[in-house]
Amino acid sequence: MSDNIRQFGYSPEELTAPGFLYATIIHPEDLPRVESETGEFEAKGSSSFFHQYRIVMKNGESRWVVERNRAERDSSGLLLYHFGVVIDDTERRNAEMEAKKNHMALQESLRKLELSFRQTIEVLSSTTEARDPYTAGHQRKVALLSEAVARRLGLPDETCEGIYLAAMVHDLGKISIPAEILSKPSRLNDFEMALIRTHPDSAYEILKNVESRWDLAEIVRQHHERWDGSGYPRGLRGEEILLEARILAVADVVEAIASDRPYRPGLGLKAAMAALEEGKRREFDPQVAQTCLDLLKEGFDFHGELLSIPIPEERPVLPDG
Ligand SMILES: [Fe+2]
Repeated sequence: MSDNIRQFGYSPEELTAPGFLYATIIHPEDLPRVESETGEFEAKGSSSFFHQYRIVMKNGESRWVVERNRAERDSSGLLLYHFGVVIDDTERRNAEMEAKKNHMALQESLRKLELSFRQTIEVLSSTTEARDPYTAGHQRKVALLSEAVARRLGLPDETCEGIYLAAMVHDLGKISIPAEILSKPSRLNDFEMALIRTHPDSAYEILKNVESRWDLAEIVRQHHERWDGSGYPRGLRGEEILLEARILAVADVVEAIASDRPYRPGLGLKAAMAALEEGKRREFDPQVAQTCLDLLKEGFDFHGELLSIPIPEERPVLPDG
């Protein structure tokens, strides 16, 4: 036993005295583990090993230690004795525990921040829908379909989450449009249509200062842009449009066609799929549209919500905002 055992209140002589058992100063909760580790080391014939355990000091206090042990053997390999150096590891261990605790507290704060961000998005989403009962539930359904398309395209989790959140508020800009126009049961005139077309930019203005991991403002601003450049507000085309917005555009159109609008009952999934088939080389990113079609053919059901919409006979399709 080395001399530094003195820091724990024992002398090397005391510990090597006949009849003294070193095990009596190992903390009783750690002793079974230390014994089994020693057994394993001996079975392997290791020449050196180390343990971590609490030592019970002469004054009764416990300290964490690291014991480095060397086995001294005779020429035939027979164990003569172990020579151990015991080092106080308490401060390092406490610092490590503190760092672990801080790390966990930080993770928890981030989780709460993330949660409150999601709740804020949910609240914003319901604010829009409260003024526009015809689109109540629309944003969530679009969010579910958008996320499913993004996942099928193999996009990273974080991108999929961002698409879901952007879709949850994609019509946020409609809060600056009079409710009578949003729920008008007949075709909109040019002025009203122009007003409706301001909603992607209005949403951008509201969301642009929201700090988050995603560029929700830009994704939302582009959700009415079209692959062939025929969309609004900026007439972007092809890959000038964010992939997230291309996905959102497809999911938005599917949900809007399938569901009831102020001026017509829902046209159903069949009509929505026909519109995708028709538009997949023009208005929509072909790969995104095809992926969405595949999901719908496989029975994607908006968690049971969309399938409850009856598929009516053919009706003329009016423009969807
Ligand atoms: Fe929209």
